[in-house]
Formats: sequence, structure tokens, C-alpha cells
Amino acid sequence: TLTQAEKAAVIAIWGKIAAQADALGTESLERLFSSFPQTKTYFPHFDLSQGSAQLHDHGSKVLGAIGEAVKNIDNITGALATLSELHAYILRVDPVNFKLLSHCILCSVAAHFPNDFTPEVHAAWDKFLSKISSVLTEKYR
Ligand code: HEM
Repeated sequence: TLTQAEKAAVIAIWGKIAAQADALGTESLERLFSSFPQTKTYFPHFDLSQGSAQLHDHGSKVLGAIGEAVKNIDNITGALATLSELHAYILRVDPVNFKLLSHCILCSVAAHFPNDFTPEVHAAWDKFLSKISSVLTEKYR
């Protein structure tokens, strides 16, 4: 679980991320699919070319879900319960992929907000994304 200081660090930069949620979500997916092409196998029905409408749409949805987790930072499990069932029971995404996407989200945030991305913010966001990943994969067990 995140400490109060880590929660504060997550929330501190969220406003800036939310204002560019579409761009950051899209960029995170573009980084995911180009650096880790095996992740494309989950999206055979998508146009994955850079900047496609589906990438934008999905990128916004992913960042929207992260926003829900920020808003419910003391109850991330509850906030993402439906999404957890979707990823585990229906999509059956292998948990290793969550580390890859989390890494790409961190890279996008760092690239867009280099001055805000202090070691403390980096560590807090790393832990926060890892918490989201464990919530989205916990139904597998
Ligand atoms: C769908 C969030 C990780 C594959 C979704 C949706 C959201 C979401 C909000 C849309 C749900 C809906 O339409 O009701 C997240 C978050 C993640 C994450 C917050 C982690 C931070 C992953 C990973 C993969 C993945 C790692 C696979 C590499 C998919 C697929 C869909 C989906 C295939 C369905 C896309 C479609 O057909 O529209 N996810 N996801 N997700 N996610 Fe994830």
C-alpha cells in the first residue's frame, strides 16, 4: 500500500496528466506496441498504426481508468473491480504485460513533465501503477 507521502506525490502531478490524458494514453500505447510488439497480439481487431483513432480512443480509456484510481486512491480495488473482471475473465491478459504498459506510461509521463518527474514522483507512480496492475490481475489467482 502507498504511504500518505506517496499518495500525495501521485495526486500532485495527476492534474497535469489529466489535462493531456488522450495524448499521454496514446503515446503510452505507441511505446508499448513498438518496444514490446508481442503485446499487439491482444489487439488483432485494432488499427495499431501510429496516431490511429482506435489508439487515441483506447489511450483515453486507459488513462481514464487510472484517473478513477487516483480519485479513489484509498480504494483502488473497489474502483477497478469491473475492469479487473474484464482483464482476467474475458481478455485473459498475461500479467507480465502490465509491467510493460506501466513502464511505458511512466516513460510518457517523464517525457512530458521532466521537471515534475522527481525521483519521489517516479517512485510513487511506479508503486501506484504496480498497485493498479495487481488489482487488474488479482482475479487470476
Ligand atoms: C480494455 C484499462 C492493461 C488489453 C481496457 C479498457 C480499459 C483498460 C479502461 C476499456 C474497458 C471497456 O471498454 O469497458 C487498462 C489499464 C491497464 C490495462 C488501466 C493497466 C494500467 C492492459 C494490458 C493489456 C490490455 C497490459 C494487454 C497488453 C486490453 C484489451 C482491451 C482492454 C485487449 C479491450 C480493447 C477493446 O477491444 O476495446 N483496458 N488496461 N490492458 N485492455 Fe486494458
